[in-house]
Amino acid sequence: MRRSHFDLFRPNCPVCKRLFDRNSPLKLVHIFESERDQVIEGSLHCTDINCQSEFPILDGIPILVPNLRQFIADSSSGILSRQDLSPSTISLIGDCCGNDSWMGTTRQHLSSYAFDHYQDFEGKDPNAPVSSSIVGLLEKGLKDLSPLLRGPILDVGCSVGRTSFELAERFHTPVLGIDLNFSMLRCAHQILRERRIDYDLRRVGTVYDRISLPVQFENLDLVDFWICDAMALPFGEGISPFVNCLNVLDCVSSPVNLLISIARVMQFGGSILLSSPYDWSPSATPVEAWIGGHSQRSVNQGRSEAHLEQVLSTIGNLLNCKLTVQHQTNSNWRVRLHERCSVDYNCHLLSITKQASQGIEVHRQRNVLI
Ligand SMILES: C[S@@+](CC[C@H](N)C(=O)[O-])C[C@H]1O[C@@H](n2cnc3c(N)ncnc32)[C@H](O)[C@@H]1O
Ligand SMILES: [Zn+2]
Repeated sequence: MRRSHFDLFRPNCPVCKRLFDRNSPLKLVHIFESERDQVIEGSLHCTDINCQSEFPILDGIPILVPNLRQFIADSSSGILSRQDLSPSTISLIGDCCGNDSWMGTTRQHLSSYAFDHYQDFEGKDPNAPVSSSIVGLLEKGLKDLSPLLRGPILDVGCSVGRTSFELAERFHTPVLGIDLNFSMLRCAHQILRERRIDYDLRRVGTVYDRISLPVQFENLDLVDFWICDAMALPFGEGISPFVNCLNVLDCVSSPVNLLISIARVMQFGGSILLSSPYDWSPSATPVEAWIGGHSQRSVNQGRSEAHLEQVLSTIGNLLNCKLTVQHQTNSNWRVRLHERCSVDYNCHLLSITKQASQGIEVHRQRNVLI
């Protein structure tokens, strides 16, 4: 965790927020290991005497979730997994555990996302066009975005980090990538610390090949990665003028709470870049919480695009603001599963602005960044 990001984002205690709807600032109390601006191992404590919750910083990543005990228990395999074994030994352990184990699932996710995010660094020709589909999606979305106000950017559901690095490179402003997957953020964090990434790329079955790539971006010092629940962002209102949230909407238990949480931390005049293939699945989101994708006899005929606009209008009323879709288009997103299988999504890509509702006076500085 960068001290600079801690000072800038000023996280509040997620437990106080959930239990009492109170904003209690967190304090950096223990530093067991640090490197320059980065706290590698330590802990943050809630400053509210009635709460006193503690949140660990592990491998440079602070874990700021309301249900810490459950989260650590569920993520202990990732947190405690060994990083020192040879690719050959890891491969043998992978054969033993199989694909439906924790190890199998984690390796598959890292293989898919690290490949898409960083495959262009493998290319020997630096002038070859970018083939990362997430960079293509981001570029397409940024083209239609209104000029950005100055301020720190949140990259929600950043997984292995490529979009966070791209945003810092383009906008020269602090970027905080957040996700709930410790193994993915550890991969992203490796780039911050070592300027390289090591991951296993799935070839077939349980056969994976070790990929080790040097990865370089401008403004790496402006990027940090934290574990936070996007549906309960532990930040004050209006902290960010721009929130990037690509392909997360259909992965959370409550897409509406995700949108409320994002809209709350956004400045007035700010924008959200949102994309989703609306690949609804009850294993991620209960059907009642899907945005469209059911009840085709209703007014929206099950169309997620139309339902989303209604949800945005309702959230605007709830938060006393106006959430307006400025641009929308479609864009490809490809997730590689193994050498002979990829899934091609056609994502709905939208830029949404947050404006003050009429009658509410908002003081803001119009400081145009691009
Ligand atoms: C489908 S992946 C998309 C990753 C990346 N944005 C991309 O498009 O390549 C969804 C990501 O959202 C993260 N995620 C799911 N639920 C989350 C939550 N409640 N808070 C934060 N991140 C979450 C997952 O861990 C995963 O990295
Ligand atoms: Zn607290």
